Amino acid sequence: MQQKQGKIPQMFTSFMVWLDERFPATETWEYHLSKYYAPKNHNFWYFMGWLATIVLIIQLLTGIWLTMSYVPSGDGAFASVEYIMRDVEYGWLLRYLHSTGASAFFVVVYLHMFRGLMYGSYQKPRELLWLIGMVIFAVLIVEGFFGYLLPWGNMSFWAGQVIISLVGAVPYIGPDLMDWVRGDFLMSEVTLNRFFALHVVAFPLVLVMLVFVHFVALHHVGSGSPDGIEIKKLKDENGVPLDGIPFWPYTVTHDIHATVVFLFLFCAVVFFVPEMGGYFLEKPNFEMANPLKTPDHIAPVWYYTPFYAMLRAATYPLFGVPAKFWGFVVMAGAIVVPALLPWLDRSPVKSIRYKGMASKMMLALFVVSFFMLGYLGTIAPSKPATLMAQIGTIIYFAYFMLMPWYTRVEKTKPVPDRVVMR
Ligand code: HEM
Repeated sequence: MQQKQGKIPQMFTSFMVWLDERFPATETWEYHLSKYYAPKNHNFWYFMGWLATIVLIIQLLTGIWLTMSYVPSGDGAFASVEYIMRDVEYGWLLRYLHSTGASAFFVVVYLHMFRGLMYGSYQKPRELLWLIGMVIFAVLIVEGFFGYLLPWGNMSFWAGQVIISLVGAVPYIGPDLMDWVRGDFLMSEVTLNRFFALHVVAFPLVLVMLVFVHFVALHHVGSGSPDGIEIKKLKDENGVPLDGIPFWPYTVTHDIHATVVFLFLFCAVVFFVPEMGGYFLEKPNFEMANPLKTPDHIAPVWYYTPFYAMLRAATYPLFGVPAKFWGFVVMAGAIVVPALLPWLDRSPVKSIRYKGMASKMMLALFVVSFFMLGYLGTIAPSKPATLMAQIGTIIYFAYFMLMPWYTRVEKTKPVPDRVVMR
């Protein structure tokens, strides 16, 4: 006999029938949550996408509130940030959440990308997902750069000057291109205004749209696993993957645990070390932009320093083109080259667990070079530092460029049929 529903559940059921006739609510819920199966052996590394989403939300919300008090003008920008820090209620909290959020974004995105390198997440059928991720990464780099200029501190000004001047090294059109990007003959309020518009409107919009497309692509191909096994291949008689668990409520609960731990660490930084010893907020940026006073040592924020070290590693002019331009090419190449991974990796297996010794060693060397370059980008240039940066740059590119060779010749281990719980 059918059980009689209470009044409220009955109203809810009728509402859902009404809604489903007009909008695919239940269908969307089932496709993306209750009937979306993720491999049951997802580990620590699979938290990062979710955490990146949390940080994106933090950045959007705090950004909107900061914009309410920020003044994008040459005279007003620095003073308005001081005003936010001292006079706006909880303004200091909003700013520290946003500045710490910027660094946290790069921490989780770098770990998210590293997971991809370890487990071959870029391999078939996730090539497009990886490419969308690479576009997100590029947009994130530019978004962070625009945001860094907004406090109009002395480091904002000079770091902006250095990066924009790179455009000037493009042969023939460089100087004109530089004026076009700045909107003026020097870094000025006009530059600040356009970077403000791009930072608060254009790029966040693009980022949100790209993340949406990233999710759509992910749910179309399905989540990968740490052993590179596709759970869609082995299903029971009802079409449920044998090694999968429904995203709702299992993966979500798992991810909520990670979020609590992450927010705990995040808040510890926000409340106790928001400047992180000058790595998250740099000392020269507590002084107003001064075109007549160059900081002793111009360096970008920590998350750009591996690429900055590669920029400075190019010291020789070539074909009559200045070294600065080649530095720019190397830096841009370093950012873009991971996009080629789906086609560079020729291994028959996805995960590092079953790849050979060469892949393991190259990945380890890559990580060492990335950290080394990151450190070198924070220190003042010197002859030994430049040499180390050149070596680091060669190792960084060797990881990618030699991949078609070492992934093909090395001996791999057999991949099990079912996912392995470790
Ligand atoms: C705002 C930045 C990003 C957000 C919010 C985001 C979000 C997510 C989420 C929620 C997942 C599923 C959970 C997980 O596997 O961690 C995921 C998977 C994935 N992401 Fe991202 N992502 C971002 C950036 C990137 C970048 C920069 C890349 C690479 C260049 C990338 C590549 C991938 C790949 C390949 C997967 C599938 C992994 C697999 O299932 O094996 N994502 N992303």
